Amino acid sequence: MRIAAILVAAGSGTRFGAGPAKQFLSIAGRPVIRWAADALAPYVSLLQPVGEAAAIGQALSGLDHLAVVPGGATRQDSVRAGLDALAPHAPDVVLVHDAARPLVPPGTVPALLAALRTHRGAIPAVPVADTLKRAAGGVIEATVAREHLYRAQTPQAFDFTTLLDLHRRQAGPAATDDAWLLERAGLAVALVAGHEENIKLTYAEDAARLERGLLGTMVPRVGTGFDVHVLRAGRPMILCGVTLPGDVGLDGHSDADVGIHALCDAIYGALAEGDIGRHFPPGETAWKDADSARFLRHAAGRIAACGGVLANADVTLICERPKITPHAPAMTARLAELLGVPAGRISVKATTTERLGFAGRGEGIAAQAVASVMVPWTGLGTAAA
Ligand code: CTP
Ligand code: MG
Repeated sequence: MRIAAILVAAGSGTRFGAGPAKQFLSIAGRPVIRWAADALAPYVSLLQPVGEAAAIGQALSGLDHLAVVPGGATRQDSVRAGLDALAPHAPDVVLVHDAARPLVPPGTVPALLAALRTHRGAIPAVPVADTLKRAAGGVIEATVAREHLYRAQTPQAFDFTTLLDLHRRQAGPAATDDAWLLERAGLAVALVAGHEENIKLTYAEDAARLERGLLGTMVPRVGTGFDVHVLRAGRPMILCGVTLPGDVGLDGHSDADVGIHALCDAIYGALAEGDIGRHFPPGETAWKDADSARFLRHAAGRIAACGGVLANADVTLICERPKITPHAPAMTARLAELLGVPAGRISVKATTTERLGFAGRGEGIAAQAVASVMVPWTGLGTAAA
């Protein structure tokens, strides 16, 4: 069976407020539309995004999808554009999903596909739990019986030709979902269990709830890093991406930024991807005097590649001199910039060793780091955990 999905992302998010359209907002480390696409990708062989090509292409980079098609004035027009683009591929089934719904629980699509064996349409829905009131001008007019009432969610699943025909024949008021077209045609649409967490990002306050929910689908991973470099006259002193004044600096094959090296190892450790030497072998001339910023950007890229997000990192520099505290805010800001995370997730601090050992004697500087990374629970071999 050939399963396609339409991801509608052509809305402007007027209820959400100013700024870039809500579906491109980054929540829990990824654009909302990316979460939505990643949730559908395992089930579909064709993914048809609808909306603005440049923004969608960027948010979905690395994911297999058909060429983006422009949307229309209403959601229904946008779905129709997606159906027309899919028609030449003749899929059997189409899932229609709002790009603004990033959290699709794992059971939803299998339940929809099972329901399609007996129905031409199926949607996830949640029974209304609250007492319902109809009101005008802030005053209740009536209590509406909530029995038999459900809130409809997406993805909604349909026999492809049935939905395409209904969209092409459709006249009259625009439907806010696709099941309505089948209802109006007298076709039975099955309900499967929806989920309270499958929230459509509509108002600004939905973002915090979604972030909690999305992070709840991830598991924490922790890594540690440790590094030492020798102090030598005439070398630059670059610590955590910041160049400090003075005529003594750290020696090494690269720029010897001991703080960044420890942090990279912590990140690679959290991802179980070895250490900095594995990714950038020390003997290679390409890394001679290299700016360590490059290594940290690479580590950040490895987090992104597995759909993860850096929760926090903590770097401790171990030295008598230079005094780190006055430079810590600049170091924190630089590391955060290189990692693409808010500065509040990064800590840089320092300690001496009471003049004991190599650090105490001023022969070298050591650094240790801890990084905590949130990754999708299906990633990095954790699925069986
Ligand atoms: N959508 C679309 N084309 C439209 C309108 C909406 O593709 N002309 C998409 C939205 O991008 C969203 C989904 O349909 O993924 C659900 O719509 P809604 O939540 O209403 O989003 P917006 O229309 O963007 O928001 P608002 O109604 O607040 O303006
Ligand atoms: Mg809308």
